[in-house]
Amino acid sequence: MQTEQKQVLYEEAEKELISITEGETDVTALMATVSCILSQKFDYYFWTGFYNVDPHKENELVVGPYQGTLGCLRIPFGRGVCGAAASTLETQVVADVHAFPGHIACDSRTNSEIVVPVTNADGQLIAVLDVDSVEANSFDETDRIALETLMQRIFAQ
Ligand code: SME
Repeated sequence: MQTEQKQVLYEEAEKELISITEGETDVTALMATVSCILSQKFDYYFWTGFYNVDPHKENELVVGPYQGTLGCLRIPFGRGVCGAAASTLETQVVADVHAFPGHIACDSRTNSEIVVPVTNADGQLIAVLDVDSVEANSFDETDRIALETLMQRIFAQ
C-alpha cells in the first residue's frame, strides 16, 4: 500500500479509537477495540492482536484479545518476533518472517509482520501488539511510527 494511503487510514483509525475509548481504562476492552478497528481498516492485516505479559510467569507472553486465525497461546520472552520485541522493548519490523531466527509460525500463511511493545503510564511493558500479513514486506516506517504513537495514546495515558 502507498505511504499516503496508509497515513490516511492510520489517522482515521487513531481518531476513531481515541473517540471510542475515551474514559475507558479496562485494558481488555481497550485491546479488543484496538484489534477490531485496526483489522477492519487495513486489508493487509491478516492477524491483529495482543500478547500480554503474564503476571504469574516470569518472562512469558500469553495471548490476549485478537482478530484472525488461531494464535499460539504462549510465547517466551526472546522467542520469535513477539519475544524479541518483549525482550528488547523495540519494535520489530520483519519483511520476511521465514528469514527471522526462531520465528513462531502460528499460521503458515503469514509472510511479514510488525510487533510493537506496549507500555503503561508508568513505562512498564504490559503487552506487545502483533500484526501479521500474508504478503511479504507489508510493514515499514509508516506503520511503525503510527502504531507506536497509537499504543502510547491508548495505553500510556
Ligand atoms: N508471529 C509471532 C507468533 C504469534 S502469531 O503469528 C499470531 C512471532 O513469531 O512472534
